[in-house]
Amino acid sequence: TGPGLFGARRNSQGWDLTDAGDLAGIAAAREPHLARPFEAGPRLAGPVAGALRRAVTNPATDAVAGYVLEAAKPDVDEALRLAEPWAAEAIDRAEVLRKAADLYETEHGAIFAVLAREAGKTLADAVSELREAVDFLRYYAEGAPALTNPPLGRVVCISPWNFPLAIFTGQIAAALAAGNAVLAKPAEQTPLVAALAVDLMHRAGVPRTALQLLPGDGPTVGGALTSDPRVDGVCFTGSTETALAIRRAMAANLAPTAPLIAETGGLNAMLVDSTALPEQAVRDILASSFQSAGQRCSALRCLYVQEDVAEAVEEMLFGAMDELALGDPWALETDIGPLIDAEAQGAIAAYVAKARAEGRVMKELVAPAGGHFLAPAVIRVRGIEDMEREVFGPVLHVARFKAGDLNRVIAAINASGYGLTFGLHTRIDDRVQQIVETIHAGNTYVNRNQIGAVVGSQPFGGEGLSGTGPKAGGPEYLARFTRQPVPDAVQ
Ligand code: NAD
Ligand code: ALA
Repeated sequence: TGPGLFGARRNSQGWDLTDAGDLAGIAAAREPHLARPFEAGPRLAGPVAGALRRAVTNPATDAVAGYVLEAAKPDVDEALRLAEPWAAEAIDRAEVLRKAADLYETEHGAIFAVLAREAGKTLADAVSELREAVDFLRYYAEGAPALTNPPLGRVVCISPWNFPLAIFTGQIAAALAAGNAVLAKPAEQTPLVAALAVDLMHRAGVPRTALQLLPGDGPTVGGALTSDPRVDGVCFTGSTETALAIRRAMAANLAPTAPLIAETGGLNAMLVDSTALPEQAVRDILASSFQSAGQRCSALRCLYVQEDVAEAVEEMLFGAMDELALGDPWALETDIGPLIDAEAQGAIAAYVAKARAEGRVMKELVAPAGGHFLAPAVIRVRGIEDMEREVFGPVLHVARFKAGDLNRVIAAINASGYGLTFGLHTRIDDRVQQIVETIHAGNTYVNRNQIGAVVGSQPFGGEGLSGTGPKAGGPEYLARFTRQPVPDAVQ
């Protein structure tokens, strides 16, 4: 067999958290980074003006994790003035990106420490996040030499806090692999790991004119970048609302040829029918809804269980939830860390409180005191139509369906307008076929959980309100960062 999508190389092997040697290695590597304040700020090809310098806090403890100097409006202007597409040959760009991947792995101690301290990532989540970031760098490096079109020019990359390393790196790596000049704006909550990553990419050899970092507020810094006519394309991951605001800004100010590559939110469903294996379904429901405290765009939000097995599945699910450990993200036994900040905690707590007052909370755990923890909860709904929007935390909605309702349920899921992930637990082959063909979802998972797409083998992205495509970590992504040929005039 010839090389697959990923050529001859393998995905990052990461670290084995059941191996005492790997754990000791991680502990030693992170030790120097446990208490030191991390520093972030604009990384420009010229002098930095800077605006506000503020503390970045640990969502599990509210302790200071580091400081960020946010970019000022003149920094945005200067960065755009100095930005230059990366002129090196594609094979040389690829080599630098591979070197960056190696540096990410070497510096895992600092990366794991900052992911825990700034983003509240559990060790398991931090390991898979670093692996994904490394995979993106190597995967896009692999694709660079095959590109035939020139780069877009100046590309703005705007990323969310929930994958502050993997998505941040994936966007930048793709834009750089295609030879663009990148202006990166990380999420307000997670500038520290972004600055660390950019420093590593510069150390690997990415020119400072080809990669500049502009931390700061979304509407101010992101808004200035996405409404500047010098920008040739925008790559965005975040909420659907922000994607729409960016599209409006681009339409008013940028050339009509400038693409928006947007990966956004979802109202992800899973369907468990009466032929499913309940133990397997419950394990996958737990991971899909509560891993990463539900702060994944791919996470399960609305579970449909067939009526005749619903009571048994729900009871098993609630029992399994009682075993979940919430708390210190760094402790090995922790399953669920904190929410990202007080705003998210307050908004989701209010949402659960309303459902509680309506008598719809079926199960709720107890959150640890301090920090921005939220107790995982399960809420009864009639169907996805009861959910107005994505609840970005450890809250699972459960509905029941009858055997004859299947088409109605699929139609309701499709009618939400979102289309990111979908999960199916069944042992009826024809049903798999029928549902996979009719469901509107970018990534459908059968008899497994619905999170954690793997670069190169599970390209990830949604349709409808969930994203524009092409899928990240897939073979069509890189070309979108190049100028498409203008068709010959029709004679
Ligand atoms: P968000 O939309 O609030 O912010 C995302 C980024 O956009 C941040 O860097 C923010 O500063 C910036 N921003 C905000 N307003 C802006 C504006 N007017 N102009 C330019 N930039 C602006 O999203 P978030 O809260 O950081 O992330 C959570 C959301 O991201 C969820 O909806 C989740 O589903 C989605 N998400 C999607 C994917 C995917 O691949 N589909 C992956 C991860 C997260
Ligand atoms: N790629 C991430 C996942 O699949 C968002 O969970």
